[in-house]
This record gives sequence, C-alpha cells and structure tokens, in this order.
Amino acid sequence: MPAYQIRIPSCVYAGEGSVGKLKEIIQKEAAKSVLVFTDKGIVATGLLKLVTDELEELGVRYTVFDDLKAEPAYTDVERVLEDVKKAEGDFIVAMGGGSVMDAAKLVSLLKGAPYTVRDLLKDPSIAQKYLKSVMIPTTCGTGAEATCNAIVAIPEEETKKGIVNNAMIPDYVILDARTIAKLPPHIVAATGVDALAHVVECYTSKKATPLSDTYALAGAKLIFANIRRAYENPDDMEAKSAMLLGAFYGGIAITGSGTTAVHALSYPLGGKYHIAHGVSNAILFAHVMEYNLEACRVQLAGLCDAIAPELYGAGEDEKARYVIDQIADIVKTTQIPTDLSGFGVRMEDLDFLVTAGSQQTRLLVNNRRELSLDDIRAIYLKVLK
Ligand SMILES: NC(=O)c1ccc[n+]([C@@H]2O[C@H](COP(=O)([O-])OP(=O)(O)OC[C@H]3O[C@@H](n4cnc5c(N)ncnc54)[C@H](O)[C@@H]3O)[C@@H](O)[C@H]2O)c1
Ligand SMILES: [Zn+2]
Repeated sequence: MPAYQIRIPSCVYAGEGSVGKLKEIIQKEAAKSVLVFTDKGIVATGLLKLVTDELEELGVRYTVFDDLKAEPAYTDVERVLEDVKKAEGDFIVAMGGGSVMDAAKLVSLLKGAPYTVRDLLKDPSIAQKYLKSVMIPTTCGTGAEATCNAIVAIPEEETKKGIVNNAMIPDYVILDARTIAKLPPHIVAATGVDALAHVVECYTSKKATPLSDTYALAGAKLIFANIRRAYENPDDMEAKSAMLLGAFYGGIAITGSGTTAVHALSYPLGGKYHIAHGVSNAILFAHVMEYNLEACRVQLAGLCDAIAPELYGAGEDEKARYVIDQIADIVKTTQIPTDLSGFGVRMEDLDFLVTAGSQQTRLLVNNRRELSLDDIRAIYLKVLK
C-alpha cells in the first residue's frame, strides 16, 4: 500500500453548549475583528444569536455576511468577496450548512490573495490560507467543517465542481447539537443521507486507507443507527448529537479517502436542476451501490459487520446486500424522493447527464468498478421516470 495521510482540524469542541468556547478561540487567536458568515435561513431561526452574544460579551468587532445563497455558484462567492473586501477582519466564524461553510472556506483563501476564485478553479494548488477560521455546522450533513474541499456551481457548464486544497481545512470546529435541534426534518433527512454517502463512498473508495476507514466506520455506525431516529423524533437530542458527530467523521474520511460515483453523478443534478445536494445523492445512492456490488462486496460486508454485528456469520453477499437494503430503506423512511420525476428532468436530458456525469473524473477514478458511458446511462435511466 502506498503512503497515506489524513488531515483533521487542529481543535474540535463537541457537546451541547460548546458554542461557548468561541470566546476562548477568539482570545487565543488575538482576533481584533471577526467576519461572520451565515445565511438568512439560519438568521431566521435565531441561531446566530448564539454566536453574536459570545462576540458581544467579548467586546470584539464583527461584521455579519448573511446574503449567501444555498449551493453557491463561484460567481456568488465573487460577489460576497466584494463585500468582504470593504470590511475589516482577521478571523472567520462560519455558522451554517455546507453552503455557508464552503463560501467561508473560500474567503479564508481569497481575502488578501493575489489570485481569484476563477484562478482556483483552474489550479487549486496555488491556494494559501490568509485567514484562520472556526466552523459551526447547522446541518448534519456535509462534513464541510472538516474537509479540504469547497463545492461551487459552475452556471455556464450547468454542473458543480470541487476546489480541493489542504489549506482549506478549517482550524477550529464546534459541534454543538443545539444548532440542529430545530433543523426541519426534511433537511435532517437530506443532509443525513449526504453524510451517509460520504462514509459509505469513502469506505468503498479505491483511495480508502486504514486511517480513512477508521473514521468512515465510526461515522457509519453513528449514522445508520441514528438517522431514522433523528428524522422521526425531532426532540431526540441523543440521535441529533450522534448525527452531527457522524457527519464530522464523514468529512475527515473525505480528506483521507474520497467520494465516488454517487457524488460524481449527483453534481450535474445539482448544477443544472438545482436539486439539493443530499437529495440528488439519495436518489442515486442505492443504485450506484448496487452497480458497485461486484467490485465492493468485501467493503460493503465490512460495513455490515460494523453496523449489524448480529449478521457476523452470514455470507459476504448477504451482508453487502443488507447494507444496500438499509440505504434504500433509509431514503424511503425519511421520505426523500427516489427518482427524478418532480424535478423537471426529462428523458431528453439523458445525453446531457451522461456527458456531464462522465466528466466528474476527480471522483469517478475513486470508484472501484469502472463506469463506461453506457453504465452511467443505465444508472441515470433507473431514476428517470
Ligand atoms: N465542502 C465539502 O466537503 C462538501 C461536502 C458535501 C457537500 N458540500 C456542499 O454543501 C452544500 C449543501 O450544504 P447543506 O446540505 O449543509 O445545506 P445548505 O447549507 O445548502 O442549507 C440548506 C438550507 O437549510 C437551511 N438551514 C441550515 N441550517 C439550518 C438550521 N439549523 N435550521 C433551519 N434551517 C437551516 C439553510 O438556510 C438553507 O436554506 C452544497 O453546495 C454541497 O455541494 C460540500
Ligand atoms: Zn456530499
């Protein structure tokens, strides 16, 4: 096996009430003025007050940027950056889902930099960190608080693209389940299945290593056991805390391994039809794993040993099928759509999807079973009704 590594944010605070650590972080970093990133949906919940109360108690200056679109395009990041340039700031606090965190992570590389976001799209290796950051996730999903990626839509290509550089890994993370206590169940479902896709794809990826496997398995145990509980009982804070932690582990697994064909084929669905990231992954998830079964039987059986030890004596095939059935059952139980009807995707769009999906080579190379154009077409056909 070649040499391998994993990156983890250097300081992680977890547990209810841990937003209270913000003062300690700002003092340690001797920050004089803070750039706070969030979105209007989060402001409407009152959650941002958890952050601003801490900053006010500390007496530090801050500017809030809440005009961030869900699933931002790189042009939205450019627009935010114009506003950011007018503000003072030597530290970043981001409170939100993957959309907010990805935009904030890009700002941490772009404020004061000689290059632009378009330059990073062409060559992400030029990135450097200009501002340190703390991420406070408010969905139980993307793991963006841990990853070295920011995903942006490319409107002119009607797809999405990941900008990847280890400089993007946040410095601090706060996992405080109060931030997802009132998360609407349909967002718990979609973002939770996204997190599930991260751990399953990372574990079955060609790039998996013993380090990424450790986080992927730990995340899988937490998410398989708690996603239905968190969706069905919004007050079940034990399940919500487990989901927040599982999603974070998924993010760490991504830095050491990588997602595969589920995410690859999902990007055109987000980029062109604006289907929420977790929903487009959920629609494809079981079908891609079914396709992958012959190449990933051992890995899927390994996942089964972690999540259903009572099946220990069963054969590999039965175990692998159990995991795929669980994935399909979770998508059904959490009432996420299982096909593309209802999203305006038509049979005439199939050629576009096949071409755009096949161009996501960054992730397709991680898939243990190769996909020809016909294989990709067959998978999309299963979800086009
Ligand atoms: N960087 C990465 O590693 C990575 C990984 C996976 C996905 N992503 C990207 O992340 C984005 C998706 O992020 P997401 O799934 O977390 O959703 P999101 O950030 O787009 O948020 C979805 C909606 O939920 C609302 N919301 C968020 N938290 C809430 C709360 N606590 N209560 C009520 N409403 C709340 C937001 O206002 C928004 O309207 C996509 O662009 C995706 O491509 C990034
Ligand atoms: Zn994802």
